[in-house]
Amino acid sequence: MLNPDQIVYLNGEFLALADARVSVLDRGFIYGDGVYEVIPVYGRQPFRMPHHLRRLQYSLDGIRLANPHTEGEWETLVRELVGKQPFSDQAVYLQITRGVAKRDHAFPPGVPPTIFMMSNPFPFPAREQIENGVAVVTAEDNRWHRCDLKTISLLGNVLMRQLAVDHNAVETVLFRDDRLTEASASNVLIVKHGGVVAPPKDHLMLPGITYDAALEIARAVGLPVDVRPITRREAMSADEMWLSSSTREVLAVTRIDGAPFGDGKPGPVFRAVWKAFQERKPHPSDVAAQATIR
Ligand code: PDD
Repeated sequence: MLNPDQIVYLNGEFLALADARVSVLDRGFIYGDGVYEVIPVYGRQPFRMPHHLRRLQYSLDGIRLANPHTEGEWETLVRELVGKQPFSDQAVYLQITRGVAKRDHAFPPGVPPTIFMMSNPFPFPAREQIENGVAVVTAEDNRWHRCDLKTISLLGNVLMRQLAVDHNAVETVLFRDDRLTEASASNVLIVKHGGVVAPPKDHLMLPGITYDAALEIARAVGLPVDVRPITRREAMSADEMWLSSSTREVLAVTRIDGAPFGDGKPGPVFRAVWKAFQERKPHPSDVAAQATIR
């Protein structure tokens, strides 16, 4: 539901959502020419903000768009936006486009970027999803070859996500030429023989901040971690499969393509890493929204 009074940020101003206006000639609208970030915020404390701002710089460099702000300026803006919301657990969305110009594919010279930020209530995964795991479907990854950039051109991801929804699943897990890449809006990790295996960060997947957090946490709790290419066969026969993202945190996959996965329950390695993740993230305000796990 849209709240017209929600305070958002647009090009230097904090204003009500209903008053935030962008030209139809904005290159974000015309070409999907821009990048974005989603930063989780618990109890008004951003989680891993420097990591998100570093990835933002990487995405901007990748599309050859100058960063309009220093890291310090971004931090100040994000915290100001967070402070203006009436709820404490938030997901900050920020996007930068190549600005407003006459339609022409080539970059417009001397045009200021469009900078937009909003912050929504943190969409905690449902207790049921944490305790019982989630369903996914699989598909061939037909997106472009720069999936390492967090661009707003998300049509490939949108179509894949809808495929999941069409099949009462939460995600579509993607394989490119038999290799596991990621899912439509999350990374994918597997468990083999008690250790975590993750696909290497290359140009075919987003370098997830939660993927990094999950691997760090796995190592910290003493689990073996192996980062290497994963075939479809290996993924489909893994002991466990997890999704990771800033808004889903880590979730266990318990159904794939309509059939139970593994023994159909979140596995022991998932439960250990999920618990350690909950202990390490900033403390959320809405503890009622926080599921526990047996
Ligand atoms: N999506 N891969 C894709 C394609 C994603 O869109 C995302 C995140 C991830 C996980 O990255 P991170 O752990 O840094 O959130 C992986 C965000 C949440 C979104 O588009 O809403």
